Amino acid sequence: MSSSIFLLLLAGLVVSVMADYTGKLLLVSMDGFRYDYLDKVETPNFDDFARHGVKLPYMNNSFVTKTFPNHYTIATGLHEESHGITENHMYDPEFNSTFSMRTHEPRWWNGGEPLWVTAKKQGLKTGTYYWPGSEVEIRGVRPDYWLPYSDDTPYRERVDTVMDWFKTKGVKMATLYYPEPDHTGHISGPDSPQIIRKVKEMDGILGYLVQKMKDNGLENEVNLIVTSDHGMTSISNTRSLDLQSCLNMSDVVRIPSVGPVAHIQPVAGREDAVMASLSNVPHITAFKKDDIPDHFHYKNNRRIMPIIAIADEGWMLYDVRWQCARNNKKSTLKGTHGFDNRLMTMKPIFLAKGPNFKTNFTSDPIQNVDIYPLVCKLLNIEPAPNNGSLDRVNVFIQDTPPIPGASTAASILLSECLLAFTIVANFML
Ligand SMILES: *[C@@H]1O[C@H](CO)[C@@H](O)[C@H](O)[C@H]1NC(C)=O
Ligand SMILES: *[C@@H]1O[C@H](CO)[C@@H](O)[C@H](O)[C@H]1NC(C)=O
Ligand SMILES: *[C@@H]1O[C@H](CO)[C@@H](O)[C@H](O)[C@H]1NC(C)=O
Ligand SMILES: *[C@@H]1O[C@H](CO)[C@@H](O)[C@H](O)[C@H]1NC(C)=O
Ligand SMILES: *[C@@H]1O[C@H](CO)[C@@H](O)[C@H](O)[C@H]1NC(C)=O
Ligand SMILES: [Zn+2]
Repeated sequence: MSSSIFLLLLAGLVVSVMADYTGKLLLVSMDGFRYDYLDKVETPNFDDFARHGVKLPYMNNSFVTKTFPNHYTIATGLHEESHGITENHMYDPEFNSTFSMRTHEPRWWNGGEPLWVTAKKQGLKTGTYYWPGSEVEIRGVRPDYWLPYSDDTPYRERVDTVMDWFKTKGVKMATLYYPEPDHTGHISGPDSPQIIRKVKEMDGILGYLVQKMKDNGLENEVNLIVTSDHGMTSISNTRSLDLQSCLNMSDVVRIPSVGPVAHIQPVAGREDAVMASLSNVPHITAFKKDDIPDHFHYKNNRRIMPIIAIADEGWMLYDVRWQCARNNKKSTLKGTHGFDNRLMTMKPIFLAKGPNFKTNFTSDPIQNVDIYPLVCKLLNIEPAPNNGSLDRVNVFIQDTPPIPGASTAASILLSECLLAFTIVANFML
């Protein structure tokens, strides 16, 4: 054995003995899980999770409060303007092309480095049981394990697969995604009996996950984060505005995205005319791109159109042409999200449990950009540049608690290695 290899082995052993964190983490998202759904109905598994871990009153998410933008913010620690997934539907003037949630071309996603790429680049095995972006080769890297998205995979089966990745495949970092309670929130509304049943069902899934962690002997090894992308608020057909009737469409080139926020590209020179038309419309606030308030961190990206119109909570902006192209009828949805991220109804849950999280602990809300540096820290890896802050998360993490007996075994092993090294080194000198 050459001395340099031996030194490397020794260094590796010292690091593994000295690392403060277990280096294994599972990041779970339940889409559209508004922070206060947990107060609507008994959720014994969430309660138990909180008693053995951390539960924040809510989490601050990013504007726009849509699914793809916020999931990619969680995965990259970047504001939407910095990672470039600025909407579920976008137009990129440089590509002269549009993006939908099925777009898997890397060029749309390369503005950010998601957790599974950061971890894999630093030698960790990664798995993604769904996450926006996880089906894309980003910056030349794919997770070791990933699946093409399907709404229908049974929820418990997803848990079983992820458990197997940690237990037998050597995966150190994984994601697990559920499209509920978002779907039910859209269809039935956030105040419906249906949402209560769905929240109870998701509580059962959390209970199943925690039980499987125990059954597989992972509960003292794998840190768990359970969070979401956004909340949900009630909408109705009587609170919708048709952009066609608000605007002179000959002033408009395209409207790549509608809903709580409309993106409008005016004809060159007609920007002020469009702004003037929008200024007369009740229930919306329109901004020229340069004037979008800084707190939104939603300005510095070519995929944000020159004018955006933000609807008041519960109001929706439609473009009849756009609707017609899709389903030719007015929306029958009872709930949606995408509004101002300062609204309480837009805020999601954040809970965490595991060897590196304090127990029965709560603290001030964090921002969703903080999750990326938090996960990197607990994986003992270097984060890429990001907009998160460890200051907000340091209060609820802790070093790996000593497992009785294990630390003594490790230090005996370490001193024996040092002795062996001294002997080998003496021979070689
Ligand atoms: C953008 O693409 C469309 C067709 O998709 C084409 O008609 C148009 O000329 C292109 N614009 C530019 C600036 O290349
Ligand atoms: C719409 O704009 C075009 C071009 O600026 C103008 O000719 C037309 O009269 C406008 N239509 C209405 C209804 O104002
Ligand atoms: C979270 O958002 C609330 C209001 O929306 C704000 O008062 C608070 O300062 C924010 N906290 C952080 C850490 O961003
Ligand atoms: C958890 O914390 C609450 C409030 O700080 C306290 O009342 C309760 O006794 C604690 N429960 C456990 C199991 O430590
Ligand atoms: C967010 O982080 C990116 C990458 O480091 C940086 O380019 C950008 O300026 C940051 N944004 C803010 C508002 O600090
Ligand atoms: Zn969502």
